[in-house]
This record gives sequence, C-alpha cells and structure tokens, in this order.
Amino acid sequence: MSEPDPLTRPLVGAPMAGGVSTPALVAAVSDAGGLGFLAAGYQHPADLAADITRVRRATDAPFGVNVFVPESRPVDLDAVGVFRRALTAEAARWRVTLPEPVERDSDFFDEKVDIVVAARVPVVSFTFGCPPRAVVDRLHSVGTRVVVTVTDAQEAIEAAAVGADALCVQSAHAGGHRATFTSAERCDTRTGTPELVASVRQAVAVPLIAAGGIVRPEEAAAVVEAGASAAQIGTALLTTPEAGTHAAHRAALTASDRGTTVTRAFSGRLARGLRNRFIDSFGALAPAAYPQVHHLTKPLRAAAAARGDAEGMALWAGTGHHLVRAEPAAAVVARLAAVVASRRPESR
Ligand SMILES: Cc1cc2nc3c(=O)[nH]c(=O)nc-3n(C[C@H](O)[C@H](O)[C@H](O)COP(=O)(O)O)c2cc1C
Repeated sequence: MSEPDPLTRPLVGAPMAGGVSTPALVAAVSDAGGLGFLAAGYQHPADLAADITRVRRATDAPFGVNVFVPESRPVDLDAVGVFRRALTAEAARWRVTLPEPVERDSDFFDEKVDIVVAARVPVVSFTFGCPPRAVVDRLHSVGTRVVVTVTDAQEAIEAAAVGADALCVQSAHAGGHRATFTSAERCDTRTGTPELVASVRQAVAVPLIAAGGIVRPEEAAAVVEAGASAAQIGTALLTTPEAGTHAAHRAALTASDRGTTVTRAFSGRLARGLRNRFIDSFGALAPAAYPQVHHLTKPLRAAAAARGDAEGMALWAGTGHHLVRAEPAAAVVARLAAVVASRRPESR
C-alpha cells in the first residue's frame, strides 16, 4: 500500500530556525500524527544533512524541511552602514565586533536544494520568496511534495503558478519573520488568520495550511471554517520540552506581560516577537535590508543569549504566546489535530 500524502496531515509543526526545531521536536510532531519540519534557514548544509539523518533515525513518519529563498533585490548597503554605526555603543557594551555587511547571501540555497532532493525528503517548504519552477519540478521528480509560504492572494497566485502542491498562508499574527516575497514588505496587522485564509481561498485552488496565532482548538477550528485543510503552529511548540528554545526565551513567553510587536530591529525583515529593550532602542532605526541586518546583529544576539539576557535577544512569538503551556509536543499536536481533522469538509 502506498504511503498517504503527508500533506493530508491536519497539523504542521512550524519550521523554526536558530536551533528551535530540533530533530527530536520534528520526530515528536510527526509521530503524533502532525507534520514536523526541520528549519534549514541559517544552517550550514552539512548540519542540515546531519539533522535529516537524525530525524530518520528517530521516526519512520513523514516530515518536512523548510528552505529560505534568497532575496533577489539589491539592498542599500549605505543604510546598513548607518545602522552599524548606530549599534556602536551596543557592540561596546557586549564587547563584540560587528561584521562588515555583505552584498549578497544565498543562505546556501542551491546546496540545500541538492541535499533535500538527494535525501528525498517527503515535503519541502519555501519561505521569503517563490522558488523557481525548475526547483519545484526537480523536487516533484523525486516524489517530494512542495509547499510555498505566502502572505497574500497575489503571492498565492504566483506560488500556485510554479506548481506548489500546497500553500502555507501566514498572517501577521504569526511569530517570527513575515514570509513576504520581498523584505521591503508592508505589514497588515489588522487582518486575522481566518480572514487571510478566506481571501487566499478565493484566489487559488491548492490546499491551504493556515499559520498565525493558532494556539487553542477554537483558533484551529476557525481557520478550517475559512477554508484551510491544516493548521501550522510555531509559538505553541516553543515551550515543549523537545524544542531547542533558549531558557530565557521560554521564561519570557509565559512570564511576560510585554506583549508582541512587529520589528525590523534584529534582521532588517519584519518579524513578530516579544517587546524588549533592543526593539525599543533600535526598531525605528533598522533599515529594510535582509539578511544584512541579521548578520550585523548576530554577535549582539549571541552575547545576550550567552548571558541569558532576554532584553537583547530576538524573542520571536506570535500573538497567542500568553496561552502556551509547557507540555510535550505530542499533547499539543493531539489537541489541535483532532479539531482540524473533525472540521474538514470531508469529515462533516
Ligand atoms: C522562533 C520562531 C522561528 C521561526 N522560524 C521560521 C523559519 O525558519 N521558517 C519559516 O518558514 N517560518 C518560521 N517561523 C514562522 C512559523 O513558520 C509560523 O509562520 C508561525 O510560527 C505561526 O504563528 P504562531 O507562532 O503564532 O504559531 C518561525 C516562528 C518562530 C516563533
């Protein structure tokens, strides 16, 4: 009997770069009936290959790998230089040297595509852009299912046109980076996830995975009512024991009444995280230059993380962060997957 399509799984464990989506988390989500995702963003290709092997050792269940699409527009390096100077006192405070900005960074896109093709990973998702048709065709030729992350109907039409099998529809309620196709994006924080799903549903016929602010069964039910066939959760997994979330990040998620905000301060690309000193000090100064600003602030974030200082770290979190609980990933997946599966049209 052939393996059922992994894209029919009702719950997706969001890829979370920076060490959060550990192979153990991916395996736990997939073993519980969800679809776990490794996050290849910022990773060295050799580390990605090793993580794929680790997931396969831990589970026979299907899983996915998320790859960042490199920014194709030129960035304003002068603006990055101005921001670098604005960070001088901050660098002195942490005793770190800030790197000179690089003009281009592909994040090893071609090498990562080679790895996931060679490994015949069941599902590959793309974020920060639309992959070329040739890449989608290559993945299809080895049986891999392809997901493209979109933030509006226009991007959805573009992604469907290159042959995506499903779209991850990310609203501005989501934790982490906005997945817009360019980093000089706008940000509509008023549109809720169900409304965004409904508008994308009107534009394309492919299956939709909804992402943004989904923590409780009622939010999962609402996106299915709006036309999604699966829900993708990131923030709800941050406090699971299997996640690689930094202790200071975990503590801030549940203990804090800071609330979240959307900022370019850490990377030059809009992202939602818990408000802290770094955002308040530099959010208004950071240029729309991704990933140049990401590399610039890396030593600052690393120094803050080494000291466990939440005020200097990127504490990515969605609008539902105050509702998360510290419990095993399987419990989170079971609670939400059951709601999605029972509300999908074919189960009604
Ligand atoms: C810590 C963190 C890291 C993230 N890293 C990625 C990533 O590497 N790739 C990606 O496509 N999305 C990433 N996201 C966004 C998620 O895929 C997803 O859109 C988001 O978590 C959904 O909203 P929620 O956090 O409210 O559940 C990240 C989110 C968080 C919280």
